[in-house]
Amino acid sequence: MTAKWDEIDQWAQQWIREAGERIRASFAEKLTIETKANANDLVTNVDRGIEQFFAAQIRRRFPDHHLLGEEGFGDPLEALDGIVWIIDPIDGTMNFVHQQRHFAVSIGVFADGVGQLGYVYDVVADELYWARKGQGVWLNGAPLSRLRPVPIAESVIAVNATWLMENRRLDHRPLVRLAKEARGTRSYGSAALELAYVAAGRLDAYLSPRLSPWDFAGGMILIEEAGGVVTNLNGAPLDLLGPNSVLAAKPGVHEEILRRYLSR
Ligand code: IPD
Ligand code: CA
Ligand code: CA
Ligand code: CA
Repeated sequence: MTAKWDEIDQWAQQWIREAGERIRASFAEKLTIETKANANDLVTNVDRGIEQFFAAQIRRRFPDHHLLGEEGFGDPLEALDGIVWIIDPIDGTMNFVHQQRHFAVSIGVFADGVGQLGYVYDVVADELYWARKGQGVWLNGAPLSRLRPVPIAESVIAVNATWLMENRRLDHRPLVRLAKEARGTRSYGSAALELAYVAAGRLDAYLSPRLSPWDFAGGMILIEEAGGVVTNLNGAPLDLLGPNSVLAAKPGVHEEILRRYLSR
């Protein structure tokens, strides 16, 4: 079993670094940018090319594994049986297009629905956040500390301005209060990076009203392995096959946000 996961991990790390090289090389070329669900929902030829790269590698090396990816080159999955790779080839496409930084490649590898390996690769900073079930979380080969509770008044919380505005999915007023009572708020525009920052203790919590499995799969494994907690905004476990709201935080902080700002 260990040897099998060693092998999967070695290939995943090799492919994620190679994906990073390809993305960095793409900065010198002209991007093809298209829109998806709306005018602000961008996708590029690089997002698609990187997902195709992972799909081809996984199918060649591990033909019995399954792949769930944002850009549609994976498998139509209805269950999480066996080994499933959940991949976002570029998380933070808007940042990729507008800033050429603050985006990441995100991978979670699951066995029968249980997270085994998590990766978030900040391509431009060349920072690879990595976790393996039972082995803690590492950043470029150095171990990260286990997460401990902190008071809300000393917390830095990642927000997305859209959930502070009036919105039909959740009551924004308690969240405005949370933003006021926290020490500070940040908004980086890449869910995967924001989750990796929670795992690394750079952020104390991250909330989102709606994410897809590829946005949070890798980061969720990192945070849980660091001793943090990841649920939806009602405190229930995340569904890896569909959209979810997400609350990811240090232990204690998670419980306090649920109790004081989200329960009605
Ligand atoms: C998006 C980013 C963003 C989050 C959006 C996601 P994408 O992913 O993670 O931070 O707020 O909900 O869709 O489309 O850039 O991979
Ligand atoms: Ca997208
Ligand atoms: Ca994403
Ligand atoms: Ca994406």
